[in-house]
Amino acid sequence: MLHYVTTNPGKLREARQYLGDETITDYDYDYTEIQHASLEPIAAAGAREAYREVGEPVVVDDSGLFLDAFDGFPGPYSAYVEDTLGVETVWELAQTVEDRSAAFRCVMAYCDGGAVDDPTGPGRVDDGELPVRLFVGDVAGTIVAPRGDGGFGYDPIFEHDGSTFAERSSEAKNELSHRGRALASFAEWHDRQ
Ligand code: IMP
Repeated sequence: MLHYVTTNPGKLREARQYLGDETITDYDYDYTEIQHASLEPIAAAGAREAYREVGEPVVVDDSGLFLDAFDGFPGPYSAYVEDTLGVETVWELAQTVEDRSAAFRCVMAYCDGGAVDDPTGPGRVDDGELPVRLFVGDVAGTIVAPRGDGGFGYDPIFEHDGSTFAERSSEAKNELSHRGRALASFAEWHDRQ
């Protein structure tokens, strides 16, 4: 069984909705988030730590919101900024600039301790540590005044195709979101193993 390791119920809901209960089971563990300017090393380190904790195949998801006018801020610091400033304050910050374009990015990291041997498969990180595979999804949008009651985190202020992510169901969000895209490329590889 594959363990989706997170303490975030919103991420878990979307992963379950996409992959199905027969593919993943949740594992509530708060792995260390290393500090880094990009999401990939954070996700890779998290997956390795989660695998050492669980002892069975794991997936972790590191995500962030990147505002173009602020050189990608809050990016890898999105969780810290949500906890300290809050989503409303990020919207207020966005109102100080004309360019409110942004992107969500999700890096999904899979680690099974090297059990699956697929040397030519996608997303392989070969840096001498425990083998990890990364699956990435991005989606572009615009920062807007908060709308909608669904989703989680920054969803109410992220608009794509006329609606915010908080105005979509998990299923509708997965169809085009950063997480949905990362899940799609992960599932495509995982189903082949
Ligand atoms: P982390 O991936 O646990 O580091 O969390 C990143 C931050 O981005 C947290 O503040 C999350 O609430 C937020 N976040 C992650 N994914 C999403 C999403 O799909 N929609 C809205 N906010 C998200």
